[in-house]
Amino acid sequence: MIQLGVNIDHVATIRQARRTFEPDPIAAAAQAQLGGADIITVHLREDRRHMQDRDVHQLAEQVHIKLNLEMAATDEMVKIATDLKPQMTTLVPEGRQEITTEGGLDVASQINRLKDTVSELHEAGIVASAFIDAEPKQIRAAKQCGFDACEIHTGPYAHAFWELGRDASLPKIQAELQKVKQAGQLIIQAGMSFNAGHALTYANVQPIAALEGLKELHIGHSIVARAVFTGMRQAVEDMKRLIREAASLGS
Ligand code: PXP
Repeated sequence: MIQLGVNIDHVATIRQARRTFEPDPIAAAAQAQLGGADIITVHLREDRRHMQDRDVHQLAEQVHIKLNLEMAATDEMVKIATDLKPQMTTLVPEGRQEITTEGGLDVASQINRLKDTVSELHEAGIVASAFIDAEPKQIRAAKQCGFDACEIHTGPYAHAFWELGRDASLPKIQAELQKVKQAGQLIIQAGMSFNAGHALTYANVQPIAALEGLKELHIGHSIVARAVFTGMRQAVEDMKRLIREAASLGS
């Protein structure tokens, strides 16, 4: 059974838009767990644009399923992770100007540095995953560094799906799917766990979820986006009720 990692960063994005206390990512994690999430994923970015340090500390205490901390491979983040001890970290590249993670981590160009990072994470008992593009050289490099898992960047597949017909049987979309599939086979052959994620939606997730040997999917934006609508009706009804009650009491 594939495990679902629910990325709740954008709950914090909404809160940070007003620098207020709601919506609370901790409450979102609890709801995600009730919905069947197997993993809670959060990205503590260098610029703290959504998740804050206190969020990840509270999540580490209160989440009773696996916590996956996405982070850049910087000294600051490795220190936070080794103190916090989430069950898993996913190393991602990070650019200050990017809206979201734009490409996979270039593991091949920094094998020695990442080897040390993975060792530090392992010493703290943390599973280490690398978020990489579907390229054999990145998979080989991840193995050399000692990563336990590779998360294949599904952005190119999702982009092709959106742009080129929105039907996974179409050849150009199949071609992107095949790249993820082949990468997955190489990861498994190398003895690592095959994970995938990024830009997956309710429309495009199934061909990826059908790939053999896939262990985890990490999905965020689309789930938070849908939650706005599955909850909107109730939220408005609750506000109307309060207004009606107050109006009927008068002042
Ligand atoms: N996996 C990784 C490594 C990511 O950086 C992100 C985005 O934070 C996701 C998965 C989830 O992507 P999305 O929000 O597009 O579902």
